[in-house]
Amino acid sequence: MRPQLGVAYYPEQWPRERWPVDARLMAEAGLSVVRIGEFAWVDLEPAAGTFEFSWLDDAIEILAANQLAVMLGTPTAAPPAWLIEAHPEILPRRADGHVHPFGHRRHYCPNQPAMQEAARRIVGALGDRYGGDTRVTSWQIDNELMGRCVCDVCRARFHDWLRERYGSIEALNESWGTAFWSQRYDDFAQIPTPVLGQIPMPGGFMAASPNPSLALDFRRFTSDSHISFLRLQTDELRARITADQRITHNLMGFRFSEIDYHRLATEIDVVSWDNYPSLDRSARWSSPALAADAMRGLKNQPVWIVEQQVGPLGWEILHTPRRGQIRLYTLQAIAHGAELVGYFRWRTARHGTEQHWYGVLDAHGRVGHRYRELVELSKELDAIGDVLAEASVVSPAALLHDYDSRFALQVQPTNPSLAYEETVQRHYEALRTLGVGVDVIAPDTDLTSYRLVIAPNLYVVDDALVAALRAYVEDGGTLVLAPRAGVKDRCNVVPELPFPTLLAGLAGVEVADVASLLDDDPVRISGVDGAPDGEFRGWFEQIEPKGAHVLALYAEGDFAETPAITAHSVGGGRVVYIAGAADPATLRRVYATLAPDAGVSTVDLPEGVECVQLRGEAPLLMLLNHADGERVVALGDAKRDLITGVEHAESVRLAPFGVALLVPVRAAVESA
Ligand code: GAL
Ligand code: ZN
Repeated sequence: MRPQLGVAYYPEQWPRERWPVDARLMAEAGLSVVRIGEFAWVDLEPAAGTFEFSWLDDAIEILAANQLAVMLGTPTAAPPAWLIEAHPEILPRRADGHVHPFGHRRHYCPNQPAMQEAARRIVGALGDRYGGDTRVTSWQIDNELMGRCVCDVCRARFHDWLRERYGSIEALNESWGTAFWSQRYDDFAQIPTPVLGQIPMPGGFMAASPNPSLALDFRRFTSDSHISFLRLQTDELRARITADQRITHNLMGFRFSEIDYHRLATEIDVVSWDNYPSLDRSARWSSPALAADAMRGLKNQPVWIVEQQVGPLGWEILHTPRRGQIRLYTLQAIAHGAELVGYFRWRTARHGTEQHWYGVLDAHGRVGHRYRELVELSKELDAIGDVLAEASVVSPAALLHDYDSRFALQVQPTNPSLAYEETVQRHYEALRTLGVGVDVIAPDTDLTSYRLVIAPNLYVVDDALVAALRAYVEDGGTLVLAPRAGVKDRCNVVPELPFPTLLAGLAGVEVADVASLLDDDPVRISGVDGAPDGEFRGWFEQIEPKGAHVLALYAEGDFAETPAITAHSVGGGRVVYIAGAADPATLRRVYATLAPDAGVSTVDLPEGVECVQLRGEAPLLMLLNHADGERVVALGDAKRDLITGVEHAESVRLAPFGVALLVPVRAAVESA
C-alpha cells in the first residue's frame, strides 16, 4: 500500500449537515484515515455516567460510507466542567503552587483517583461501543501527554514510587547522600516534591531542587505517572477491542523532554507523533528530520504522523509556510519512516483557542489552495505506488538518546553549550548534511548493525551501558563521545573517579580540568596530521591521554597545546573523544573524515539539500531541497525520478522546495 494520508477532524465543532460534504471532500482528496473524538468528552458524556454516542455513530458511519477509516481518540485531555466541579482536586498543581484552571485543556493530574475513575468510565464505554467495530481501525489515547503536578496525591504516589525503587529509607539516604545539608529522612513521608526550575541568584541562577538525586527521581516519577495513566486507558481498551484495532498515542517529536518516550513506546502498538516544522523559528530542516528519526527509533518500526502541519499556524503569532513546503514536509516525513501522514486539521476553527491553526480548508469551508495541493500530492503518491512504503531508511550511524542523561542535565544544565537537545541536533545535522543516515536509538539497543555510534552528552552511565559500548567497539565499531560524558551514575551522584569516570578506560583519556565560559567566544583547535581544525565554544575539557592518541590540540586559551580531540583504539574499533562543545562547522569537518574512516560514505550536497537513502527492492534516494532557490545535485550514475518519470544522467536540478525520488536506471530496468 502507498503511504496513507489522513486528517484530524472535529465533527462536534461543525453542523451535522456539513459532515457528508466534509467526508466526500476528504475522500476525493485521497485521504483514507480520519482521527476524531479526541477532545469531545462533554459531547460523549454530558453528565457523569450519561453517554451520548449517537452523534459519534453518525460521524463514523458517514466517514465509513466514504471509505475513510476512523482513528478514535479518547477524550481525556479535556475533562468537562461537570467533572471539575464535582472534583476540583483534579486540577494539577504546578511546582510554583499555581493551580491550572479550567478553561484550557490538560487541566488534570494523572494521579488523582477521581480523574482515573472518570477516565476508566469514558474509555470503557467507548471500548464497549466501538471495540471490534471494523470501521474504527485505531485508537489514540489522550493527546500529547505532558505536565508536572505536585499535588498531595502526587506527593504520596512519589513516596510509593521511591519505596519501590529503594526498598528502605536507609537505602534512599545512602543513594542520595542526604548527609548534605541535613537532608536525612526518617520516613518516606517526609520527602518533599522538588521545586522545579531555577531560582535567579546574584551571579547566575541556582537550581531550585533540594537535591539532584531527588530532582532526577521526580522527573522519572512524573514520566511514569503519565505512562501509568496511559496504561490505565490501554488496559480498558485491550479488554474490549480486537487485535487489529491498533493503539497509539501522539508524541511531540524530539524536543519535548518531560516523558521518557522509550518507556512510553512499549505500551502502544504504533508510535504516532505531531509534526509542526514552522514552529521551529530557526527553520532548520534537521528539526523535523531529527524528530522523525527519533520517533521511528522508539520502536524501530514505521510511525504515524497524526498531526502534520497543513498551513499557517501559531497561537497568538502566525507562522506561514512557503508554497511547496507542506508537500516537502510530507515527503520528508514519509522518507523518514511515516506510513501515515494525517494533517492537522480539516477545517480552520471558527471558535476557540486554535483560530490560528489553519486547516486543509479555511474557516469558511470552501475548497482553496491547500485542499488542491493535497489533491495533487495524493496523485503523486498514487503514481509513486508501493516503493516508498516498502523501503526503509538506510542508517549506518546511530545517535544514542538517553533520557536519564537528558533529565539529569535539565537539573544541572552546566553550560548553555551543553544543552541536550541542541547538542544532539548538532551532531545529527553534521552527519545528515554529509548525507549519512542516522538512527536515533535508546542506549540499550543492539548496536551491531552500525559503523558509527555517537553518544553526545552521555552524562549518566552505568556498568552495563559501558560494557555494551565496549563490546561494540571491540567488535570494530567507532564510538564518538562528546562532553559531558560519564559525569553521573543512575542516582545522579558523581562517581569517585576522574571524568569521564566509567568511560575513561574506553575513551583512553582522563579529564584533568574543565572550563565553562559564558562569553560564547570561540576557542580554536588545530588538527594534527591532517585532521581538521575547528572551534569550541562554552564548554572545554583539559584531557590527558591514557592510551588515546591526539587528533587535535587546543590552539589557544588556558588549555593551549593540550589535546582537544583524541582517538583510542580498542579491539577492532576506536573511541573518539571530543573534549569541548564543537560548533556546527567543526562537527561537520570532524565527521567528514571520521565517517569514511569508519566505512561510511558521505555525499557532497549543496546547502539546504537533504538526502535520504532508502532500501526497498532497489536502492532509492530522496533529495529534498529545503532552500528557497534552485539546487543542482551531482549523481554518481544515471537515475530516474519516480515522481516525474524523467531520467537524469549526471545531475538533477531541484526547484525551490522541490523533491526528487531517484532510483538507479539499471535497477529500475531490472525490476520493471
Ligand atoms: C498540538 C495538539 C493539537 C492542536 C495542535 C495545534 O500540540 O495535539 O490538539 O492543539 O497542537 O494547536
Ligand atoms: Zn497531582
